[in-house]
Amino acid sequence: MSGRRGAPVRISAEGGPGLPILRERKAEPATIVIFGSTGDLARRKLGPALRSLHRQKLLPKGTRVLAFSRRATDLRLFPRGAGAIRGTFDDAEGYAELGRRLKNRNRVFYLAVPPSETPAVVRRLADAKLLDPSGAWARVVVEKPFGRDLDSARELNRTLLDAMDERQIFRIDHYLGKETVQNILVFRFGNAIFEPVWNRHHIERVEIEAAEAIGIEGRGGFYEQTGVVRDMVQNHLLQVLSLVAMEPPVSFAADDVRDEKVQVLRSLRPVEPDDVVLGQYRGYRSEPGVSRRSKTPTFAAMRFQIDNWRWQGVPFVVRTGKCLARRVTEVAVHFRSIPLCLFGRGEICDRIDPNVLRIRIQPDEGIALRFACKTPGEDLAAGSVLMDFRYAEAFDRKPTDAYERLLLDVLRGDATLFARNDDVERAWEVLAPAIGAGIPVHPYARGGRGPAAAAAMLKGGAL
Ligand code: BG6
Repeated sequence: MSGRRGAPVRISAEGGPGLPILRERKAEPATIVIFGSTGDLARRKLGPALRSLHRQKLLPKGTRVLAFSRRATDLRLFPRGAGAIRGTFDDAEGYAELGRRLKNRNRVFYLAVPPSETPAVVRRLADAKLLDPSGAWARVVVEKPFGRDLDSARELNRTLLDAMDERQIFRIDHYLGKETVQNILVFRFGNAIFEPVWNRHHIERVEIEAAEAIGIEGRGGFYEQTGVVRDMVQNHLLQVLSLVAMEPPVSFAADDVRDEKVQVLRSLRPVEPDDVVLGQYRGYRSEPGVSRRSKTPTFAAMRFQIDNWRWQGVPFVVRTGKCLARRVTEVAVHFRSIPLCLFGRGEICDRIDPNVLRIRIQPDEGIALRFACKTPGEDLAAGSVLMDFRYAEAFDRKPTDAYERLLLDVLRGDATLFARNDDVERAWEVLAPAIGAGIPVHPYARGGRGPAAAAAMLKGGAL
């Protein structure tokens, strides 16, 4: 008896424009001031996102972009009509000029600056009275990493909250703007059939992986200060974990969703050093801006436990790294094996693989469910097949870019897809043991699967 494993079965998708689930608030016109307009983020993400929104006529009429930077900004990066202010971030004159240009307009201050500069810019904005315009609103977008650890995150939150109200702060985590990450909510709470099995009785483990084929791409200075735990786990991956594990929210309003996400983080047990494997790709120390003796990790694997009724005893494994074999970000939900195999012994039973639901965040966005199937023939033969839904086949438009979506949300004043002060602080608390000294950093080959110690830890545990 035999069976083919993993052969895909395509499902026909009824993809259409979709019905709006929520009535989105209307985006309002504003001046978007970009601090750090000559930096990497502005060049790679913000400029293209703003140009694309402009091209699609999605920016509300009257929206303007103003670049604020020490060096001259290449204004071709931004939509036509963008202006510029030259100034250092601690030069009062620059802020006075900004005030003259903004008058009583709505304003978004996008801080695309190194994290160490954020507090100074916020204080200057507050001193120049730019954060409470009369008859208009002011919002501030802060980029990750939000601090370096719990203490610095608390200090940053204090600085921000001294200068403005939490409702004005948009802590951006671009993973939350990805269509496939938002779809975790729709998939879980828009379908009746998954929620009853979404718990410890049916799920054996959950794996969240964000593997990158690229290295640090010339960002040595930034990365040396950051490392993979601060760059990917503290924000992107714990946010995804929260969406997978959260309870149904009371509504889709920003704070109802964020309240449930933070509950997951509060139930997350601080990670034990034995449940963490760190690695560094070979050649990292020769990258520009990197110390020859650097111990900065570029790979992390961690096993988390969530102490609540739904998830007690179900490991959540998170893996991420640079210079790995291929780029793939996905959530794999592994269901328990069948309780009893009725098909005889040995080989056939071995062929009944447990069900796995894979939520492919990128690339090849989609969702696949593996299940057992009788393979055609006179004998009773079984194998695994995949029911595979692909965004690219089901819909005739590409997923919206995460930065475009999030920039529009800032103009709408909708903070659902942004991090809140309490979840940021709790995420640092949970990760404290993984960012302290003392965890060895294993070298690994470029283009491989990461350090062998990671595979060994995952096998040695409950997996
Ligand atoms: C950024 C990190 O936040 O996310 C980068 O700073 C990383 O190091 C990037 O490469 C990954 O984002 P994406 O959207 O390509 O998965």
